[in-house]
Amino acid sequence: MTQRIPFSGHPIFLGPLAESLPGWLDEQGYSSVFLIADKNTNRLCRPALPVQSAEAFVVGETAHAGIPMETLKTLPSCEAIWQAMFEARLDRKALVVNLGGGVVGDMGGFCAATYKRGVDFIQIPTTLLAMTDAAIGGKLGVDFQGAKNAVGVFQYPAAVFIDPVFLKTLPARELRSGFAEVIKHALIGDRALWKKIQSMPAGSLAATNWGGLLADSIAVKTKIVAEDPREAGIRALLNFGHTIGHALESYFLKTAEPLTHGEAVAIGMLCECPDAAELAETILHFFPHRHIPETAFPDLWKLMEQDKKNASGTVRMAVPDAEPFSMRWVALNPAEAFGRLQRYNLLSK
Ligand code: GLY
Repeated sequence: MTQRIPFSGHPIFLGPLAESLPGWLDEQGYSSVFLIADKNTNRLCRPALPVQSAEAFVVGETAHAGIPMETLKTLPSCEAIWQAMFEARLDRKALVVNLGGGVVGDMGGFCAATYKRGVDFIQIPTTLLAMTDAAIGGKLGVDFQGAKNAVGVFQYPAAVFIDPVFLKTLPARELRSGFAEVIKHALIGDRALWKKIQSMPAGSLAATNWGGLLADSIAVKTKIVAEDPREAGIRALLNFGHTIGHALESYFLKTAEPLTHGEAVAIGMLCECPDAAELAETILHFFPHRHIPETAFPDLWKLMEQDKKNASGTVRMAVPDAEPFSMRWVALNPAEAFGRLQRYNLLSK
C-alpha cells in the first residue's frame, strides 16, 4: 500500500506507482509530459510506468554506448536535453518526469529547473541510492571540471514517487552502492535503523524487503532537509563520508576500475568517522576491500580542495557528533587525510 511520507518540502509517495501517480497527474493538469530516462530504465522500467509520454530523452543511448553514466552528468548532456525540450516545444506548463538513478534525477531536474526559467519536474527513482537520498530534497546539478555536482541549483521537485519494485531490476553492486546512503542515514540519525543494519547478513540485500528500511532512511533525510533546505548548517551532515568519498569517486572515474558512488562513500565514512571500529565491521562486511594507490594522493587532495563545503581555504568535513542529528566540523589537512586513508590499510604502494 502506498504511504505518504511526512515532509514539508514536497510530496513523497512510497509504494506502487499505479496507486499514486495517475491520480496525482490528473489533479495537476499539465500541458504535456516529457520523460528523461537512461538506456537501462528506458528499457526495464519505462514499460511499467502508469503514464505514457510521447516525448522522451534517453541519456547514454547509442552515441554514448558503454560510457559510464556518471561521466555523462555534464553540461554538454544538458545542452542535448534542453535541445530535445525545445524540439518538443515544451511550454512552461509542461511536466518533466525523471525516471532513473541519481544521474538522471540530478541532471534532468537541473535541466527542468532552468528550462524557460523553470518547469515542474517529478522524480521517479529506480535505484536504491536515488530512492533513499538523491531524489529527495531538491539538490540538482552536474559535474564540472572533474568536480562532483559543481554546477547546480536547489529546487524542489513537484513530487517524488518511490516504488521499491524497481529495485528488483538492479545488479547487486548497484544495490550495495545505495545501501551506503542507508547506512549513512542510520549513523547520523537513527540508532534503531543502525541496529537493524548490523543484524543483516552480508548476502541479504537482493532478498531484502525495502519498504520499511526506505521509510526509516528517508525519514532521517527529510527531517534534516526540512530544517535546513539550502544547507546553511545541519544539511552538511548529509555529506558525511562525501569529502573523501567524492574525491575517491572522481579519481577512480578516470581509471579502468571506477568505484560506485556508494563504494566511495563507504570508504569515505570509514575515514571520516570519529570512532569507526563498529562501522568498520559493518562496512567491511558488506563492501569489498579496495586499495588506493599512494600515487593517487596528490590528485585526491586537489579534489578534496574543490569540495563545496570548504570555507576560508580550509578543507572540512561534517561528521556526526554523539547525539543523533548533531554534527561538528573537522578540518582536514593533507597529512591528516593521508593518515585517515592509511588507518584501514586502504593505501597501497
Ligand atoms: N545528498 C545530500 C543532500 O541531499 O543534502
